[in-house]
Amino acid sequence: MRRMLMALALATLTLAAIGHPCRSEESTTAEQRRLFREGARLWPVYCAQCHNARPGSEFAPYQWNAIMMHMRTQANLPAKDARAVLEYLKASR
Ligand code: HEC
Repeated sequence: MRRMLMALALATLTLAAIGHPCRSEESTTAEQRRLFREGARLWPVYCAQCHNARPGSEFAPYQWNAIMMHMRTQANLPAKDARAVLEYLKASR
């Protein structure tokens, strides 16, 4: 019994050390932070040409995915800029 408990404790510790896969998705990487900063700079430039620049808080992240597919062609965004603006809008809520 004692041995089993030890094994369980070890397994728990190992999982804690690796980090749960769901949690690692939430932690922002350096690349995401870079995209966020770039997006924050580009968003008012590209997205306020035809209407007021819509804030990230206005839509959920999954909605921004769909909106950006449409608006990216409207604003003629190159792929790298579209990625940055999308990251900014999804994260600035
Ligand atoms: C060339 C003009 C133009 C540019 C640039 C543009 N949009 Fe739009 N946008 C529109 C038009 C027109 C509509 C409404 C009709 C439609 O959906 O096509 C719209 C609608 C929207 C909507 C939906 C609003 C609602 O209340 O349903 C969102 C959100 C949006 N744009 C976000 C953006 C973002 C983010 C950018 C920058 C990447 C952007 N737009 C750049 C023309 C533009």
